Amino acid sequence: MIAVLDFGSQYTQLIARRIRQLHVLGEIFPCEVAAGILKDRGAAGVILSGGPASVYAPGAPSLNPDILDLDIPVLGICYGMQIMAKTLAGTVSAFGHAEYGPAEVDVDPSSMLFRDLETRQPVWMSHGDRVDVLPPGFRAVALSRSCPVAAMEDTEKRWFAVQFHPEVSHTPAGMDILQKFIFGICGASADWSMERFAEDAESRIRSKVGRGTVLTAVSGGVDSTVTAVLVQRAVGEQLRSVFIDNGLLREGEREEVLARYRERLGLQVIGVDAGDRFLRALKGVRDPEVKRKRIGETFIRVFEEEAGRLGRVDFLAQGTLYPDVIESRSQRGPSDTIKTHHNVGGLPESMQLELVEPLRDLFKDEVRALGEVLGIDRELLARHPFPGPGLGVRVIGEVTKEKVRVLQRVDRIFLEEIRRAGIYDGIWQAFAVLLPVRAVGVMGDERTYERAAVLRAVTSDDAMTADWSRIPEGVLTRVSSRIVNEVRGVNRVLYDLTSKPPGTIEWE
Ligand code: XMP
Repeated sequence: MIAVLDFGSQYTQLIARRIRQLHVLGEIFPCEVAAGILKDRGAAGVILSGGPASVYAPGAPSLNPDILDLDIPVLGICYGMQIMAKTLAGTVSAFGHAEYGPAEVDVDPSSMLFRDLETRQPVWMSHGDRVDVLPPGFRAVALSRSCPVAAMEDTEKRWFAVQFHPEVSHTPAGMDILQKFIFGICGASADWSMERFAEDAESRIRSKVGRGTVLTAVSGGVDSTVTAVLVQRAVGEQLRSVFIDNGLLREGEREEVLARYRERLGLQVIGVDAGDRFLRALKGVRDPEVKRKRIGETFIRVFEEEAGRLGRVDFLAQGTLYPDVIESRSQRGPSDTIKTHHNVGGLPESMQLELVEPLRDLFKDEVRALGEVLGIDRELLARHPFPGPGLGVRVIGEVTKEKVRVLQRVDRIFLEEIRRAGIYDGIWQAFAVLLPVRAVGVMGDERTYERAAVLRAVTSDDAMTADWSRIPEGVLTRVSSRIVNEVRGVNRVLYDLTSKPPGTIEWE
């Protein structure tokens, strides 16, 4: 196992993911973890993450010197390098202007970190401070124009550090450098796999839950389904799953999802039809954030009522993943808040249940791989993400039952044609939006005055950035023609050509 100490970088989880990509277990610990814990866990090496602070700022996270005394290799990255230098009596200073983005470094190929690499390497920098004076025993093994010590090492102690970020894809040799550290320097072996992750997660869930009862909300999506199947494998009948139909789902979604859960996955699911209640809560509401809030609150109330019917419940299982965590807030280290508008993690605090979050460290593609290991069918695992507030944030303006019905039909046609064209899997999300705008048209000999609908399809790796999808013209033509012919109430179809940023994926 390689321990990753979190000093608050938005890339901490990415470091752990890179380690897993090398088939080694990467586990994240708060930066103040006791050295004894790392020793007991058998860490073969320690990576100190980056972080947003300056090492001299009041309250900046510090490095526990006991960790350096463990006699296991340490690699500091960015802030991790600076805190290592400061702790070992080197000097760190601000260099006037922060450096964010691509840079070039000259590496010393005699260092074990850079062996066999070209001397000049493109890297990704993101820092305002730099190491000026090396700590005793260290030598500089890379330099850049703005950074005389872009990497340093003390080979006797097996302490290494880099100012740039080897974990991001903008550092092309980054994986190579991490590999040299993890295998060449730490001597880790590549024997970790998703099967092992599943086994470990199951046994962790079992020991946490004991004889307790676990409740979970399933949506038909990848994350909640993988969570439920994993928890069921761990504690069987002690799991209760609830599926809430908020009336804002895709057409036929409830029936399809419940059948799949019960028949194929053997989950015990309680299906709740609460559509009218959600629509009542949305009456007169136009503001997207108020919609999210009303939908979230109603969800919690319905969920609590269902839980109340089940008697004693001790735990709540949630499919929170790593991007959800950074889009809300790191619970582990001092990560800065990046974004809070998403309602993930908005489940009942008032219920005072202990959380079980087995996917917390994973990225979406890893969750899909885990789902495969758990025997979940590919069709479910390949489903596009669908937001919690559902069609509530895709009917622009006030949501009514009638508008939801119209949007469901438009959306179904769009997705049918995308599937038929064999392009579903290459798209991150495809959906329709109903505008509160009417347009004039002509059908037969009659004038029409109906609503306009927007088709949105994007490609993305993680939803943090996205580009509009170049859907073949023929598919768009078919979709548009089917929509105006088959859906009463819509006579105009638009295609959204906005990327994220500056747009968002959803319209609201
Ligand atoms: P945006 O619109 O912010 O969306 O580019 C990024 C991803 O998040 C989904 N999304 C949500 N998911 N509750 C959710 O559970 C929400 O309120 C919400 N808003 C957006 C969106 O579908 C996309 O995958």
